[in-house]
Amino acid sequence: MRKRTVWRNVSIAAYGAIIFVLAAPPAHGKSVALKMTALPIRYVEPVYRPPSEAQSLILPVTDGCSWNRCTFCEMYTDPQKRFRPRSEEEVLGNIRTCAEQMGAGVERIFLADGDALTLSTRRLVSVLEAIRKDLPSVRRVSSYCLPRNLRKKSVAELRELAELGLSLVYVGAESGDDEVLARVNKGETFETTREALDKLQQAGIKRSVMILNGLGGAALSRQHAANSAALMNAAQPEFLATLVVSFPQGEARFRENFPDFEPLSVLGLMQEMEQLLSQLELKRTVFRSDHASNWLILRGTLNADKPRLLQELRAAINAPDAAPLRPAWARGL
Ligand SMILES: C[S@@+](CC[C@H](N)C(=O)[O-])C[C@H]1O[C@@H](n2cnc3c(N)ncnc32)[C@H](O)[C@@H]1O
Ligand code: SF4
Repeated sequence: MRKRTVWRNVSIAAYGAIIFVLAAPPAHGKSVALKMTALPIRYVEPVYRPPSEAQSLILPVTDGCSWNRCTFCEMYTDPQKRFRPRSEEEVLGNIRTCAEQMGAGVERIFLADGDALTLSTRRLVSVLEAIRKDLPSVRRVSSYCLPRNLRKKSVAELRELAELGLSLVYVGAESGDDEVLARVNKGETFETTREALDKLQQAGIKRSVMILNGLGGAALSRQHAANSAALMNAAQPEFLATLVVSFPQGEARFRENFPDFEPLSVLGLMQEMEQLLSQLELKRTVFRSDHASNWLILRGTLNADKPRLLQELRAAINAPDAAPLRPAWARGL
């Protein structure tokens, strides 16, 4: 019988720092756990990955984020997370060692860190070819991706990556509104994000897009919701997630470029979500608003579940005290 190794994430607050244990299948009612240090991979913490990659092997091909200037994001601002690509030798060595130690147990790989697709097509091809050769049981390779990562990559190049196994990327669009995007220094616009999402679609790579609820504050809330909906309607991503913008390390950095930012109340956040959802016209997008930063958990497929989701939201807006909101202590990034 094939022995299946399961990667478990034992300490995670959604996009929070991750620690893995390697858990063997329960044998005689017990499971064997090895600490992260047992992994044949050098992790520079904190390491982030999307909630849906909880079972994936996290393979760093870069450290940090090549942009690292979004004023709301402090995920890669620690000195040890300064952006650098990892050497090809180290990454290919990691893949070989994982193959020797875990072999058929690895089915999903997430290429870290903040925007692995910043690497050249040649480097990505060499990583994907090595995964295919050494870890043939891998069924899905994914990574974060910034629109700017794709500016110099053609659809043909992206198709080559897709054929070698890159099947899903997570794109932090954050907003479809150019004023909001400028205020938070995302370095992208509605158009640049839409172009990147279109290229990915043409190449057959699935897109999971993140939009940040509350990012425009009270003043820009309506245009943030309207233009984010317009961006999603234009791009028709396969997955859409909304997170609530949060400032665990304080708002000082964010306010430098957005001094009049007025955070939305919980009610304001839900009203913004109501506008966003009402204006979404999606053919088939898996929608999740269940990240630890969200107050109200919403899950469904759009537009099929739009009436139900709007009903849930409106019920919470009309009677917030009776709504099944996540308690403040349980929220996080
Ligand atoms: C680890 S980042 C990497 C994403 C990738 N670099 C990009 O921008 O597309 C993942 C996502 O976390 C979310 N995020 C970062 N800082 C946040 C904050 N302060 N509050 C809420 N979400 C945040 C953003 O949606 C961001 O796209
Ligand atoms: S949101 Fe993404 S692009 Fe912006 S700084 Fe964070 S990791 Fe980098």
